[in-house]
Amino acid sequence: MAHVTPAGAPPVLATRRFAPEVIARLRDRFALTLHDNDSVMDRAAFVAAVPGMRGVMVTPGDRVDAELLDAAGPHLEVVATLSVGLDHIDCPAARVRGVRIAYTPDVLTLATAEMAIAMMLSLLRRVTEGDRLIRARKPWALAPGFMLGRSPTGLRFGCLGYGRIGREACRLAALLGMEVVHTGRVPRGEAGEVSFDELVRRSDVISVHCPLTPETRHLINTEVFARMKSDAVVINTSRGPVIDERALAHALANGVIAGAALDVFEHEPVVEPGLLECEKLVLVPHLGSATHQTRTAMGMLCADALETVLLGVGNATNFVPAGAALGGPDGS
Ligand code: DGY
Repeated sequence: MAHVTPAGAPPVLATRRFAPEVIARLRDRFALTLHDNDSVMDRAAFVAAVPGMRGVMVTPGDRVDAELLDAAGPHLEVVATLSVGLDHIDCPAARVRGVRIAYTPDVLTLATAEMAIAMMLSLLRRVTEGDRLIRARKPWALAPGFMLGRSPTGLRFGCLGYGRIGREACRLAALLGMEVVHTGRVPRGEAGEVSFDELVRRSDVISVHCPLTPETRHLINTEVFARMKSDAVVINTSRGPVIDERALAHALANGVIAGAALDVFEHEPVVEPGLLECEKLVLVPHLGSATHQTRTAMGMLCADALETVLLGVGNATNFVPAGAALGGPDGS
């Protein structure tokens, strides 16, 4: 049976093929315009589709800036993003136009921390490297010294950005017997807290969990790599531009550090060509929160926020607080 849009339903644009349950819910409550595709909505099409919308649901990759907000016009009340990161959204521009921003904290904390740990284990235990070796049909045999990796137990896990996801990654790292240290935007005096410099100099694994802000862009650069231990590895499940990718490629190629694992990229989805040549590198296409349960929960949180603002139904609280930093709450 053809779907009937409820009379008077507020117009909402959804820029991506969200989970089926989420789309069904949006269709039931709103006059939905859907970019029914996994690819990023072309910018011109996005700007052309937004005029007159009262709500918009986006993902990272959809830039919500003053131009887009102005194109939407004065009826726009809420933008909900399927992310905890907010670097694609100009929150101050939305605020001055009276547009509320909803996001999806908490529900993705465990999934993203799991990914950081999965990537760390892949790197230390050479999982993806071994996979590549077999697929390349290279000869191999079990041998006492063949492809030895490192166990995480006893290594020092340095967590850069001690918000929700960073804390969860620390919890999981501790379960693996790692010594955990952390540093965040503001000193909190909590157990394991060290300075940025100490974390960088003394950690075996440096896992990035800070949001992307003007202060954290290229936080990890040539000079910082030079301070790391030569057997350190760097994991990033936060945002690509926190690491200077060219500097990383240089550091890996020259043995300045021992390896890296990236779920996010500086110019996503493009990857710095020099990196693709590095063997000691695990690459993942931004899958931190990509489990069925998590993506559905994230979509439902966005729907909750749209309903609260546009229909006065429910009591969603997942709105970005006034004064939040460009990249989102500390440490995501
Ligand atoms: C986020 O939540 O910011 C992730 O990068 C997308 O899941």
